[in-house]
Amino acid sequence: MGAGGDRGGKRGKAMAAAAVAGLGIIAAAAVGRKFFASRARRRVVGIIPARYASSRFPGKALALIQGKPMIQRTWEQAKLATTLDAVVVATDDERIADSCRLFGADVVMTSETCVNGTERCQEALKKLKNKYDIVVNIQGDEPLVDPEVINGVAKALQAAPDAVFSTAVTALQPEDAMNPNRVKCVVNTKGYAIYFSRGLIPFNKSSQVNPDFPYLLHLGIQCYDAKFLDTYVCLPSSPLQLEEDLEQLKVLENGYKMKVIKVDHEAHGVDSPEDVSKIEAVMKERNLR
Ligand SMILES: *[C@@H]1O[C@H](CO)[C@@H](O)[C@H](O)[C@H]1NC(C)=O
Ligand SMILES: *[C@@H]1O[C@H](CO)[C@@H](O)[C@H](O)[C@H]1NC(C)=O
Repeated sequence: MGAGGDRGGKRGKAMAAAAVAGLGIIAAAAVGRKFFASRARRRVVGIIPARYASSRFPGKALALIQGKPMIQRTWEQAKLATTLDAVVVATDDERIADSCRLFGADVVMTSETCVNGTERCQEALKKLKNKYDIVVNIQGDEPLVDPEVINGVAKALQAAPDAVFSTAVTALQPEDAMNPNRVKCVVNTKGYAIYFSRGLIPFNKSSQVNPDFPYLLHLGIQCYDAKFLDTYVCLPSSPLQLEEDLEQLKVLENGYKMKVIKVDHEAHGVDSPEDVSKIEAVMKERNLR
C-alpha cells in the first residue's frame, strides 16, 4: 500500500513519543490560499481502510497477533489518538466488518471497486453522517501504530493552513539506504516536503552513503484535507509519480504543499505471514499484550 513500501521486519526501540521537529512551525496564519484560508480545520476523522484480498497475505486484516485480529490492534491504537473525533474502519468485506463490529468499531462499507486505500478513505468519508475537515488514513496493517504519530500529522496539518496533506518521516537506517522499498524524503527548512524517492536523496557527490547525513525514511501514514481528498483521487497520474511508483508525488507535482513531521518511531508493517511473528517478538520485547 503506497508510500511505506515493505516495512516489515524492523526491530524497535521502545515505543517512542513522537518527537517532532517541524511541528513547531506554525506558518503565518494568513498564507492559506485556495483551500480554506480562514476556516480552521477542526474536525478530524481517522479512517482505517481494510480489504480482504491481498496478494501476499489474503485475510491479513484478521490475522491474529497475540490472539487479537490485526485490525483490532490498529483500531485500539487509533482510539488512543486524542486528536481524532472519530475512528472508522472502511471495508468491502463482511468478514472484516463483522469482526470489527464485535469489538466495537464503527464500520463503513465501501465498494469492491476501490483500487486502493486512498480511494476507500474518500468513499468512506462521503458516507459518514458527520462532516470532517481532516482525514487521517491509518493503515490497517500497522498494529503498533503510535497514537502520537497520528496526533502529530493531524496537528501539523491544522497548523499549516497552506498545506493540504501531511505525513511523517523518521531516521533512515544506513542499511536501508539502497533499498527501493524504503522511501526517502527531503524537506525544506519550513518542514514542507520537497521530494520523495526510492533512490537515496540527497545523493552524495562521492556516490557513497554519507554516514553523517540525517537521511529521512517515509512512514506510511497520510493525512489529508477532507476537500483535497476529492481532488487527490481524481488527479491524473503524473510523470514523477509513475516513474517512482509513489502516489504522493502527485501532490507535489501538482504544486500542492505537504507538511512533514519527524518522529522517533519505527514502522512495523505486516506485509506477509512471516511478519506476524516479527511483530509478536517486538510486542514481547516491549511487554505489550
Ligand atoms: C559526502 O559525504 C562525505 C562523507 O562520506 C562528506 O564528508 C561530504 O561533505 C559529503 N558531501 C560532498 C559534496 O562530498
Ligand atoms: C489510488 O487510486 C486513485 C484513484 O483511482 C489514483 O489516483 C491513485 O494514484 C491510486 N494510488 C495508488 C497507490 O495506486
